[in-house]
Amino acid sequence: MRDPQLTRRGLFAGGAAAAVGALAACAPEQAASPGQTATAPGRAAAARAAHAAAPLPGGSAVEPFDGVHQAGIATTPQAHAVFVGLDLLPGTGREAIVRMMHLLTDDARRLTQGRPALADTEPELTVLPARLTVTFGFGPGLFEAAGVEERRPESVAPLPRFVIDRLQERWTGADLLLQICADDPVTLAHALRMTVKDARSFTRVRWTQRGFRRSAHATVPGTTQRNLMGQIDGTVNPQPGTPDFERAIWVADGPRWLHGGTTLVLRRIHTKLETWDAADRVAREFTIGRRLDTGAPLTGRDEHDEPDFARLNATGFPVISEYAHIRRAHVTDPGMRILRRVYNYDEGLTPEGHSDSGLLFASYQADVTRQFVPIQKRLAEADLLNEWTTPIGSAVFAIPPGCSAGGWIGETLLS
Ligand code: HEM
Repeated sequence: MRDPQLTRRGLFAGGAAAAVGALAACAPEQAASPGQTATAPGRAAAARAAHAAAPLPGGSAVEPFDGVHQAGIATTPQAHAVFVGLDLLPGTGREAIVRMMHLLTDDARRLTQGRPALADTEPELTVLPARLTVTFGFGPGLFEAAGVEERRPESVAPLPRFVIDRLQERWTGADLLLQICADDPVTLAHALRMTVKDARSFTRVRWTQRGFRRSAHATVPGTTQRNLMGQIDGTVNPQPGTPDFERAIWVADGPRWLHGGTTLVLRRIHTKLETWDAADRVAREFTIGRRLDTGAPLTGRDEHDEPDFARLNATGFPVISEYAHIRRAHVTDPGMRILRRVYNYDEGLTPEGHSDSGLLFASYQADVTRQFVPIQKRLAEADLLNEWTTPIGSAVFAIPPGCSAGGWIGETLLS
């Protein structure tokens, strides 16, 4: 969620100060103090400082770090994301994990507010936070390593196997998740580097998954994004700030330590764009149950019209097929929905010229077993979309609640 006050505070207290400080440190002999006549190089330095101190609003925008919930979930999705799965090194126990989480929380708190991490060698790369969020998740292995197995929610475990799964070890499971999102890819790359540097003495990288959505200012805020199959993707989703969102996403009645937290299922889903290209428009719309241009259900006119699942066509068949994606995925109780915060991935071309692309399907819900699994089961059984999509990676994490100033992520579980 964007907080304009915090945004301004971040700009003046963190971003701008760091920018000016960084420039002054780089060229102290060129900086002219107020009232002094600037020399030509001094004028250039002052102009550069002024330029750096006045970034565009998108660059200086700050998402709050401290709070009841971790940022990066109810936050309006940023344009870029990287998900990193880390495994704890052998012998890394509770005390070491606590130390690591202190360090990582400090990095995240600073970087997201436009300030350099401790011992940041590139402070200039932190002055444009661009709505950076860093979100942490705990996989099953972390509970075991920390000796708190009995506090792991039962559903924070590998998912049951679905018939459509073709999971690859290199995209599956992990002890610790770093989810880093920002509207700027340079900011994102720096935050990734700084946090992984601090995690290195405790973990090794299992996988890195990068994703993207439309650039921040390419569309009017509130526009639903399109995935690489061309579909409007994200229409039916719990809306932050509503009671349904609170109920569906934040844990309130599970383990006490996880109250205010949630769970994440991250599925890497490969899409076969070459054969999707071969399907005509009617077939594509029939597959989803929605129109490609407007995203409206086949029974409606506008994107947000309610689908009429009971309506029949002239030949007596449902207009929205029994096997259409939106019918199979539909959940009637809004408080039991999942939050889909998906990112496209595109890793370029195979030697045959086929695209290695798909969705990083990030699903947040209070309870994996009650919310995610039944939907995935119905889709696995019979969803026309399965012809073109294949899950190739899967990981489940508990996302601990947020923390207050001075606190650290994981304190409710590990302190
Ligand atoms: C590459 C894979 C997938 C693609 C391309 C895809 C695409 C879409 C599209 C275009 C819609 C309609 C617009 C919308 O409401 O967002 C939709 C709806 C939905 N999808 Fe998917 N999806 C994929 C995988 C999944 C998976 C794995 C799940 C859950 C296990 C899922 C759950 C849903 C839900 C819950 C809806 C809303 C259904 C409703 O109308 O109530 N999708 N998806």
